Amino acid sequence: MNIPSELIAQLRAASHIAVFTGAGVSAESGIPTFRDAQTGIWANHSAAELSTRIAFRADPHRVWDWYQWFRGVMQKARPNAAHLALAALENMVEHVTVITQNIDGLHAAAGSTEVLELHGNIWGNVCFACRRPGPATDDPKANGPPKCLHCRGRMRPDVVWFGELLSQKLFDHATRMAKTADVMLVIGTSSLVEPAASLPRLARAAGRIVVNINPEATAHDAIAHHVLRGAAAVVVPALFAAAWPDRAA
Ligand code: OAD
Repeated sequence: MNIPSELIAQLRAASHIAVFTGAGVSAESGIPTFRDAQTGIWANHSAAELSTRIAFRADPHRVWDWYQWFRGVMQKARPNAAHLALAALENMVEHVTVITQNIDGLHAAAGSTEVLELHGNIWGNVCFACRRPGPATDDPKANGPPKCLHCRGRMRPDVVWFGELLSQKLFDHATRMAKTADVMLVIGTSSLVEPAASLPRLARAAGRIVVNINPEATAHDAIAHHVLRGAAAVVVPALFAAAWPDRAA
């Protein structure tokens, strides 16, 4: 793989790297992406019927049971070489912030210590009615939404659905990290879902170096200083091995 020497120098000089990831970083862990034309979650399931408040109100069992299926898929997944290389980046660079749209928890499982999960985490539950958190699900086979211990409302997965707002505090934090990190690595995202997709643009506007890693072209190519084409599990370890040949695994 051809890695520009300018990029290697930029990585080595960085004291803070922000990493912005989407479903593509977990593709090689066996979790389908959302928008792949054949295997994508939203190519085979209706987002409107499964990932909105209206859908849950209309049929909480259906939505809950679908998320239980999704939890089953995620439960089998293990961090891949990209997640592991990003965790090991903390040995090379003083400060690494992982900002992820993924709900699978694989960055933390790989050992990354600063992970901002913009769209929530599939294992957590909150009450649909009173928003108070409840026990996390550990058995993806249990069916039907449990009742809230406080108000007897129905529990739902603690993820962001279409039409819902992200946590403002979390997004403000992610924005600060994007604007102040020396380099932002954008990995495996179609760059279609806002406001998350604005983070690389904000980084670029703040004068930061932006790198887009994806096997396909995306809207972020236009604002990236460097575009690396390929699967995350191949490109990310190769990039770090090129930048830190003596230290990267
Ligand atoms: P998408 O499914 O929209 O995009 C996945 C991206 O990963 C595409 O650009 C692919 O080209 C790329 N990709 C596929 N295989 C890859 C690989 N092996 N290595 C690297 N990249 C690869 O997923 P997201 O951009 O994450 O929202 O989607 C954003 C949000 O839309 C998700 O967080 C989810 C979804 O609806 C919520 O759940 C709120």
